[in-house]
Amino acid sequence: MKIDGTHYRSVWVDAADGWSVHIIDQTRLPWQVEILRLAEEAQAAHAIRSMQTRGAPLIGAVAAYGLALALRVDPSDAALAGAVARLSATRPTAINLRWALERMQAALAPLPPTDRAAAAYAEAAAIADDDVETCRRIGQNGLPLIAEIAARKPGRPVNILTHCNAGWLATVDYGTALSPIYQAHDAGIAVHVWVDETRPRNQGAALTAFELGSHGVPHTVIADNAGGHLMQHGEVDLCIVGTDRVTRTGDVANKIGTYLKALAARDNGVPFWVALPHSTIDWRIADGVTEIPIEERAAAEVTDLTGLTAAGTLATIRVVAAGSPAANPAFDVTPARLVTGLITERGRCPASEAGLRGLYGG
Ligand code: MRU
Repeated sequence: MKIDGTHYRSVWVDAADGWSVHIIDQTRLPWQVEILRLAEEAQAAHAIRSMQTRGAPLIGAVAAYGLALALRVDPSDAALAGAVARLSATRPTAINLRWALERMQAALAPLPPTDRAAAAYAEAAAIADDDVETCRRIGQNGLPLIAEIAARKPGRPVNILTHCNAGWLATVDYGTALSPIYQAHDAGIAVHVWVDETRPRNQGAALTAFELGSHGVPHTVIADNAGGHLMQHGEVDLCIVGTDRVTRTGDVANKIGTYLKALAARDNGVPFWVALPHSTIDWRIADGVTEIPIEERAAAEVTDLTGLTAAGTLATIRVVAAGSPAANPAFDVTPARLVTGLITERGRCPASEAGLRGLYGG
């Protein structure tokens, strides 16, 4: 995707030195486009934990490169196992992190240590390239949903509600939930996106709005609580969200607040679609509510807000009464019964084990 006319992926290897890794610091967006250079595994782990880099598919790709950085220094069996364990522990909910590290370990462990660093860079690049193509296909497979609605309301935009950021900043390129929207916009279909602000970290207000704006997609940021009202008044044609982990039965973990949108969508007859790559499916578990670990993040993310002052400087302010404690569960689970369907790189399917197996076999 492009920022000011320059094409970026969300993670890439330095072209000059051939080994250090670059990411866009997402804690500085939308105010500053700052590129970070990661030269050590610990820096990659910190970037994931602190959410300088984020989004389920992207943290998998960055962790893969983090492992390559570790093996450059020490390619031994012990170093491989240690780095996989440390990187896996950075964030608990998105399964893509574990998927990428397991894929790396399976490719690297059988090799002699002297071959591991080069092979790690090649495997991480393959993971990144796979994500780009996968997300492009998710866009193709979601596009007909938007086109069908557009055909039913000629001359008026298709209104799509999304939550958090499941765009190119959350993947290596294109995004998951936003990929069909970009493809529809590029195909000349009039779309308008309701962007949930997505408290507490505001990935919608800060990242999704930035992405859509950079690409010229009409959008409006709304308070998280506005979605139900808009649905009641016919202002939402469909919802498309991303996900951090889907059970084999189709339960969907995504950013906190997604479940409430799915409930409101069901009550108002609004289709609720979830877009995901193969790397987000956790075939090992069946019950999302009890089996998906939900990340609990710092209370300060709830009590404090960061933004630009009128003077144009970045500032963090407290918005909660002094002394009041805050809780910060970062994800919730939407049961499969509330999900209209899944959009994957292999096509669309019902949110069910039969639906997923129909696309992926097994
Ligand atoms: O905590 P984050 O910002 O990493 O959470 C991201 C989300 O919840 C996204 O919706 C998700 O990763 C979708 S995958 C593109």
